[in-house]
Amino acid sequence: TLMEMEKLVSLCKRRGFLFQSSEIYGGLNGFWDYGPLGVELKRNIKNAWWQDMVTGHDELAIPAGAPTTYEMTGLDCTIIMHPQVWKCSGHFDLFCDMMVDCKETKKLYRFDQLRGRWVSAQGKKVRLQPKVISEGVQQIQGDEIERLFVTSLAEAEEEAGDLQRRALKAFNLRAKDAEVLEWHESVMTLDKLDSLECVFAPEANSVGTLNGPREFKLMFPTTIGALAGEEGRAFLRPETAQGIFVNFKNVLDSTRVKIPFGIAQIGKSFRNEITPRNFTFRSREFEQMEIEFFCHPEESRKWYEYWRDRRMQWYTDLGLAGERLRLREHDKDELSHYSVGTADIEYAFPFLSEGEYGELEGIAHRGDFDLRSHMEGKLVKNAKGCLEVELGEDGKPKYRGSGRDLQYRDEVTNDRFTPHVIEPSAGADRGALAFLCEAYTEDSAPDDKGQMQTRVVMKFHPRIAPIKAAVFPLVKKDGMPEVAQEIYRALKKRFPAFYDEKGAVGRRYRRQDEAGTPYCITVDGQSLTDNTVTIRDRDTLEQWRVKVDDVVEEVSDRVS
Ligand code: GAP
Repeated sequence: TLMEMEKLVSLCKRRGFLFQSSEIYGGLNGFWDYGPLGVELKRNIKNAWWQDMVTGHDELAIPAGAPTTYEMTGLDCTIIMHPQVWKCSGHFDLFCDMMVDCKETKKLYRFDQLRGRWVSAQGKKVRLQPKVISEGVQQIQGDEIERLFVTSLAEAEEEAGDLQRRALKAFNLRAKDAEVLEWHESVMTLDKLDSLECVFAPEANSVGTLNGPREFKLMFPTTIGALAGEEGRAFLRPETAQGIFVNFKNVLDSTRVKIPFGIAQIGKSFRNEITPRNFTFRSREFEQMEIEFFCHPEESRKWYEYWRDRRMQWYTDLGLAGERLRLREHDKDELSHYSVGTADIEYAFPFLSEGEYGELEGIAHRGDFDLRSHMEGKLVKNAKGCLEVELGEDGKPKYRGSGRDLQYRDEVTNDRFTPHVIEPSAGADRGALAFLCEAYTEDSAPDDKGQMQTRVVMKFHPRIAPIKAAVFPLVKKDGMPEVAQEIYRALKKRFPAFYDEKGAVGRRYRRQDEAGTPYCITVDGQSLTDNTVTIRDRDTLEQWRVKVDDVVEEVSDRVS
């Protein structure tokens, strides 16, 4: 619920998981800093991903569910890349959102491409009151856009060609013609128009072919060196994926990897989102963890299924095990034009409405689209549904590819082909946010006087918990601090540990519960006589005694 979310946001700030960027200057919308606990959490998530996907991957064995063995390797590419990369990838022309300003509500609305509808800044589906609609209709009378909404279906059909083209462009609908007609119909047969999802203020900053909706470019522009104008213009990458595609040949030539194999990368991406919202969920600067997996076209469907399930399992293993996590396969008409299949791993974040899910990761079958684009130039689908190089007005390729041969030759069969790509693309910040939401728990625990009190505890999986163990001397005397410090130093050699000797021990436990520390070790009077300490389990509150010499092993076994 929203309540839960407010409590979580406040805990994140209070305990140092997340801060607004540049907060002392009032913050910057869409930018977030990770605090002392947050940086460990996020790094643990990235390390777990890298370990499980790349360094820990056993290329000699066939993983459960995989068609064959495969290899994995990594890359770390630049944030600013050659501008031609984004022209060929399609981002330069296509990576934009549609937005409208509503005259009535003075609010900004964004077109949600996936769901094919206008949404408010909060991501909520927009429904307007009939009153607003009728005003909207009046306001746009005499304007072409009016015909789109208020003409009869017959008229719309008559002018279908033109209207559809305009509608497609204006509303960024990549769907088939039929769908647009249906959409007309749904607007028009509802004479009260109460399900029309937005009203457009036609005069508002319009730059598109129709009044109202306008394009909003999502790539952050920047300038390289002293080159003026177009020549020096570059962009901050909106995804890490392209660095992998353009290095495909380098990786092949510098390693002995053979298809099928994957290249992984973790790094920052930037999108000038119109409506950054919901804490870190939609930010303007964020981190991605992406794999481009290259395989033979005939094997690609099996690999798509493998990665879809493998990635889902990864979140489950790290503790997103409940009903809040789901795998959603896209419908055929949601797929990008080159995709055979796409699935999203989604999480029911507390800031979303009942029944709504937010995307953590997409697993897409991208065919040979990317490698071909970087060989031949930007591709578009032709009338036959095949990809071909898009031509400019002069009949020449609109954007020229690299001209490099990015095909693969199988040494055994001598078969030459452009590999197909399966892309599991995850957001490290969205992952961190989901793990934070999932971890947040309120239960009850006895205080120092044995009274049951509500306690807030972050139940992170030990692998991602920022601090693995905390060590407390029960009191600050009688040699207890010395023993505790020795244990603390031994633990720190293995993983992040925390030493605390201040205040009542109950309060020290409470602080570690809020940080999500799985184990607390307490040195007490008995320790000084029998050389044992207590270990307390964060979740079960169980306490047991362990020999001082065995503490490090005991905790290590439990957190790794
Ligand atoms: N290369 C494919 C790609 O970038 P995407 O669905 O646009 O696909 C992949 O992004 C993932 O990156 C998303 O599932 C999400 O986790 C994360 N992501 C995308 N935009 C984001 C944003 N504005 N803020 C935080 N994370 C974002």
